[in-house]
Amino acid sequence: MARVKSFTFLLLVQALLISPLLCVLEAHASAPLSKGLSRKFYQSTCPKVESIIRKHLKKVFKRDIDQAAGLLRLHFHDCFVQGCDASVLLDGSASGPSEQQAPPNLSLRKRAFEIVNDLRELVHSECGRVVSCSDIVAIAARDSVYLSGGPEYGVPLGRRDGLNFATQNATLANLPPPSSNTTVLLNALAQKNLDATDVVALSGGHTIGISHCTSFTDRLYPTQDPTLDQTLADDLKTICPTTNSTNTTVLDIRTPNIFDNKYYVNLMNRQGLFVSDQDLYMDARTKDIVTNFAVNESLFFEKFVVAMTKMGQLSVLTGTQGEIRANCSVRNSDNIYLVSVVDEDLETKSELR
Ligand code: HEM
Ligand SMILES: *[C@@H]1O[C@H](CO)[C@@H](O)[C@H](O)[C@H]1NC(C)=O
Ligand SMILES: *[C@@H]1O[C@H](CO)[C@@H](O)[C@H](O)[C@H]1NC(C)=O
Ligand SMILES: *[C@@H]1O[C@H](CO)[C@@H](O)[C@H](O)[C@H]1NC(C)=O
Ligand SMILES: *[C@@H]1O[C@H](CO)[C@@H](O)[C@H](O)[C@H]1NC(C)=O
Ligand SMILES: *[C@@H]1O[C@H](CO)[C@@H](O)[C@H](O)[C@H]1NC(C)=O
Ligand SMILES: *[C@@H]1O[C@H](CO)[C@@H](O)[C@H](O)[C@H]1NC(C)=O
Ligand SMILES: *[C@@H]1O[C@H](CO)[C@@H](O)[C@H](O)[C@H]1NC(C)=O
Repeated sequence: MARVKSFTFLLLVQALLISPLLCVLEAHASAPLSKGLSRKFYQSTCPKVESIIRKHLKKVFKRDIDQAAGLLRLHFHDCFVQGCDASVLLDGSASGPSEQQAPPNLSLRKRAFEIVNDLRELVHSECGRVVSCSDIVAIAARDSVYLSGGPEYGVPLGRRDGLNFATQNATLANLPPPSSNTTVLLNALAQKNLDATDVVALSGGHTIGISHCTSFTDRLYPTQDPTLDQTLADDLKTICPTTNSTNTTVLDIRTPNIFDNKYYVNLMNRQGLFVSDQDLYMDARTKDIVTNFAVNESLFFEKFVVAMTKMGQLSVLTGTQGEIRANCSVRNSDNIYLVSVVDEDLETKSELR
């Protein structure tokens, strides 16, 4: 009894003295946490969740590092459209796993959806249905950054999965097109409380991954964008001979698969692929931020983590809101397999009683 008491007392001391200290340190290093989220959310219910995901993704990326880009972009699309609630994963959502009609500028890799479902299966078989699909996507995005050479950082957890599909309208309205200039981008992201530094830092996600020709051929035909480097323009015209070419090319010509600050060096050399990228260096409001990131990778990493942490908490569902999906592609109420599983669970429990 005494031991329990002194243990409780120690915990109390820890809670009073150490946690506020940690909170201050964390707040300095990163953006503040939304109510209901915590970096230790699964400490008692699924302590291995992050190591399970890290281990599996290491294996996946060893075979195919390209998948890191697909997973990072998936988290971005999830958070920008209706908040980080895994609505993007639902079968039937615009640009969701079964969506064939999504415009190519919205296309997400099919494989990214499969990887998330694989991760969900691994995590749930270890801990039961306690970890949300939206948290799995957020952790997978962080691991994609880290395992590609980027910064390591703690992800706030405790998101729950949404019940609403990501509609075509919401998708188009919330994801700025690659033809956006800096004014459009700053305005669009300001609506999500993201400032100019966040905009430039988040765009650094384009240090890995690929794009389809259709996302940028308006910079080549009928007239060439004067802010595009001539040698790169010539190369892009070879890769994309027509506006309807289905070819793809890398977003970062210097180090296409490495999460580093070379994206910003590209911008300083007029080698950004999209208008939304290149204009960040052309616009006086963001030019210095680009330069600062290009000359100081630690600074980019630091600001990227802050911006990702903000993005990762956009309109999250917590507590008893939403649900924890048993299959990331379908809501529990639509899950024909879940009904029988839940019934079995209840039966087993009543037998034990
Ligand atoms: C700020 C506005 C943004 C615009 C206009 C934009 C636009 C695009 C476009 C058009 C593509 C190529 C799609 C294709 O043709 O296949 C793309 C790819 C990508 N984007 Fe963005 N994006 C933005 C922000 C972000 C953010 C915030 C992140 C993550 C932090 C991100 C990460 C990626 C990645 C990793 C890819 C490559 C995906 C792959 O290889 O499968 N983007 N983006
Ligand atoms: C989608 O947007 C279009 C035009 O912006 C509008 O006419 C339509 O009603 C919207 N649909 C939904 C389901 O909100
Ligand atoms: C994507 O392209 C379609 C046309 O293919 C266009 O209507 C839409 O506005 C574009 N949206 C984005 C977000 O780029
Ligand atoms: C940015 O794009 C918007 C929308 O296309 C346009 O109205 C505006 O004039 C552009 N701003 C600049 C500075 O080019
Ligand atoms: C795809 O790109 C290659 C060069 O990388 C080019 O030779 C080929 O014509 C392109 N194909 C199409 C359909 O655009
Ligand atoms: C692509 O566009 C070219 C002309 O720009 C046309 O000749 C060709 O048929 C188109 N291909 C497809 C698959 O639409
Ligand atoms: C680069 O940025 C880091 C992180 O903000 C900072 O500590 C460091 O002093 C900067 N380095 C230089 C050379 O400015
Ligand atoms: C998840 O749901 C999708 C869509 O209904 C289905 O195709 C898939 O087989 C389900 N996966 C699992 C593991 O039940």
